[in-house]
Amino acid sequence: MKKPEQSTPRECDGEMERSLSLEIVRVTELAAIHSARWMGTGKKMEADEAATTAMRRMFDTVHMDGVVVIGEGEMDEAPMLYIGERLGTGECPQVDVAVDPLEGTNIVAKGLWNAMAVVAIAPKGSLLHAPDMYMEKIAVGPQAKGTVDINASVADNLRAVAKALDKHISDVVAVILDRPRHEKIIEEIRQAGARIKLISDGDVAGALNTAFPETGVDILFGIGGAPEGVLSAAALKCLGGEMQGRLMPENEEQLNRCRKMGILEVSKVLMMEDLVKGEDAIFAATGVTDCELLRGVRFVGKSRVKTHSLVMRAKTGTVRFVEAVHDLAKKPLLNLDHIG
Ligand code: FBP
Repeated sequence: MKKPEQSTPRECDGEMERSLSLEIVRVTELAAIHSARWMGTGKKMEADEAATTAMRRMFDTVHMDGVVVIGEGEMDEAPMLYIGERLGTGECPQVDVAVDPLEGTNIVAKGLWNAMAVVAIAPKGSLLHAPDMYMEKIAVGPQAKGTVDINASVADNLRAVAKALDKHISDVVAVILDRPRHEKIIEEIRQAGARIKLISDGDVAGALNTAFPETGVDILFGIGGAPEGVLSAAALKCLGGEMQGRLMPENEEQLNRCRKMGILEVSKVLMMEDLVKGEDAIFAATGVTDCELLRGVRFVGKSRVKTHSLVMRAKTGTVRFVEAVHDLAKKPLLNLDHIG
């Protein structure tokens, strides 16, 4: 499909049409379908590339003038959707885009739990513009909003969450990526008497789960990707939860990249307003493999495929779970031979 000429319209009023939510979920659906094809193949690069190509192609049809402000690639790292890339048809509204076409590349390669295709959009200037690097994070759902502090001790945060949720601390569950860098936090959680859910990958799902009591997860701790941090913050803004973060540059080059993007106080605690400014944001995720909230992609016979997505909007507070059955024969963009 030929991408229309993109020019910045002058009369955009910053409002996002409500139909945009459904356009955005189409983007994550297509990325999920194409990456799911690589499940269990051991080929994480191919899975990621398929998701990225599909996502870019579907974005070409979305009525918006978007710019990627945080994602997993920089300009020279094709085929990633790179920071600064323009997405959409070029029409109003002007939006910031945060993307992770495949959140959990290793998960898909191994056929494990928690892989999703994820996008967040918000009015221009709302999302944190930062390089792809690590971010320290703490996240909770709506009931514990306002009670945690990334600068406080792990024990204090767990006590605050237990109180907010009216639970014994021994019943609080913290989710954290299973990484050697988290040994100390894991020990502190255990010392405080709380329980732990270690995940191999996929901390966006971990953060999302804190806002859904039925997942049994109460708080997310630990260091993960910054793009995943902004995506999680957008999701929690829609759900009334809270996330705090702190960028963790690993070397001088990453520090310089932060400065170039206008982040001068790199070690500053990033509150919700720093991660996702204002009242509005749209978040969409489609399961690639199964996770607590979403079922992964199911290929049904030769020509049909089922997807399960979550799409939400902060301004209205609407949370939609969307189950879709796609007919591969009738939709050219779904044709698996074209992508990947
Ligand atoms: P990708 O598959 O997109 O690389 O991310 C998976 C993930 O587990 C994220 O959920 C998490 O934020 C990040 O990787 C953690 O990074 P690392 O694997 O380097 O610890």
